[in-house]
Amino acid sequence: MSTVLKTKKITKNFDGVKAVDSLSIEIKKGKITGIIGPNGSGKTTLINLLTGMFPFDAGSIFVNGSKELFKINSYDIRIFRVTRTFQNIRLFEQMTVLDNILVVLTKRNISGSLFEKYKQFHYEQAKVVLEKVGLWGKKNELAINLSYGQRKLLEMARVLATKSDIYFLDEPFAGLFPEMVKLISEIIKELRQQGKTVILIEHDMSLIRELCDYVFVMESGHLLAEGKANEVLENKEVVEAYLGE
Ligand SMILES: Nc1ncnc2c1ncn2[C@@H]1O[C@H](COP(=O)(O)OP(=O)(O)O)[C@@H](O)[C@H]1O
Ligand SMILES: [Mg+2]
Repeated sequence: MSTVLKTKKITKNFDGVKAVDSLSIEIKKGKITGIIGPNGSGKTTLINLLTGMFPFDAGSIFVNGSKELFKINSYDIRIFRVTRTFQNIRLFEQMTVLDNILVVLTKRNISGSLFEKYKQFHYEQAKVVLEKVGLWGKKNELAINLSYGQRKLLEMARVLATKSDIYFLDEPFAGLFPEMVKLISEIIKELRQQGKTVILIEHDMSLIRELCDYVFVMESGHLLAEGKANEVLENKEVVEAYLGE
């Protein structure tokens, strides 16, 4: 099974705190990989580093067939066909639901001069992803007027619209009602079925068990354990660190 993403001793300090501490992991293509660990263990920072939000201080990464990279920019990340969601939802608040998707499609696929030509095509694509998350009926609402759960779903629709190879999902289920959790679980499984790679940060261990092929456990920026979900979640050290027992 091929590796689609690899970090080599990647490190990030914030004012003396090692948020990510010499972390080496390998992510397999076409799998759902969980990243778990207590609050503040560096999960979001890891995603931020791998998506070019912050430079890393040391180490290197390989992503989607790239050569060894010692830095990565957020605008490079599209070229590597990587996308993400945010733990704190980020939308264009004053734009409609539909425009939140169209802006992604337009930005990713065409230059401005071709906009007219692709307009109908993008509209159809936006319809597909918004129907998938059940928001097509809300297409003319401003994002800011959606409920919290609907905003999470819109963020999911937005990453689906990118048609990437690698999806980082930072707590996509947090605060959602059960039917929305089910919907997002199905979407994540469908991505795997399509051969896409999903990296999932999640606190609900039953979802981790249900969805993940492999799990990394972080603690204070380093790797505490890795393995199949069931094995890792039975590891005494993990249980102690994670559940604070
Ligand atoms: N932008 C930042 N500036 C300063 N410190 C940060 C920043 N982002 C994260 N940290 C710190 O890095 C550590 C890891 O945080 P984070 O990656 O958000 O953890 P997690 O997602 O696992 O809860 C924490 O100590 C946090 O306070
Ligand atoms: Mg986080």
